[in-house]
Amino acid sequence: MSLDLDERQRAMLAEMGVQLFQPSPTPAGADSTPAAAAAPAVALARAPNGVPPGRPAAALPPPAVAPAAPAATALRVRPAGVADMDWPALREAVAGCQACKLCNHRRNTVFGVGDEQADWLIVGEAPGENEDLQGEPFVGQAGKLLDNMLRALQLDRRNNVFIANVLKCRPPGNRNPEPEEVAQCEPFLRRQVELLQPKIILAMGRFAVQSLLQTAEPIGKLRGRAHSYHGVPVVVTYHPAYLLRNLPDKAKAWADLCLAAALIRQG
Ligand code: URA
Repeated sequence: MSLDLDERQRAMLAEMGVQLFQPSPTPAGADSTPAAAAAPAVALARAPNGVPPGRPAAALPPPAVAPAAPAATALRVRPAGVADMDWPALREAVAGCQACKLCNHRRNTVFGVGDEQADWLIVGEAPGENEDLQGEPFVGQAGKLLDNMLRALQLDRRNNVFIANVLKCRPPGNRNPEPEEVAQCEPFLRRQVELLQPKIILAMGRFAVQSLLQTAEPIGKLRGRAHSYHGVPVVVTYHPAYLLRNLPDKAKAWADLCLAAALIRQG
């Protein structure tokens, strides 16, 4: 029986510590029957099953992963225990996450950047091309605008501010996040909020707002007042990429930032 694994499944097994063993060519004098010659590559499960790597295939128990499992679903791995992780564990879990198909094309995960004791948490949508390349959120044009807005409040991205996205991986071609991707990534953002305990969350753009507040209301109707995400005040504003195309709304975004700053001052 052949395992018939494709490249992605092989990568997945490697990630899980399952080594693939390909029998070497039959040495002189060894069994050279057609059956032996046709022996398939087999999976050597890692230590937990008690079989040392390198042990001959025939003596192994059945492979840990059923070869017939539908690739798109059964082999996905969602990190466990996210709700109890500290910062280093959470970073590692994000870096190794394979819970949705976005892991197939990313160059880097984008965990977030900033001060782990920040009062401000700024939440955007998802990494774009530049962010995927550099592993840092908001490093493109929209990021420059965000940096300028922060500077106007005498803040910067590494000082009393933490910047994160709803998604930690880039959707191909910068398409919109899919509900399944948002759902798989949500525990990471939630844990970031728990660890950070910010005084304010600034939700920038439709996806951040929808994900944090679980509402389909338009931003225009949600601006101007405090909402709540697990007890943390949330101020809603426009995404910087939108502001680059709609310059008159920059004044509204500035008002939103001022509201957020006022809420922090009020404690
Ligand atoms: N847009 C976002 O929402 N996040 C980024 O990190 C970059 C652009």
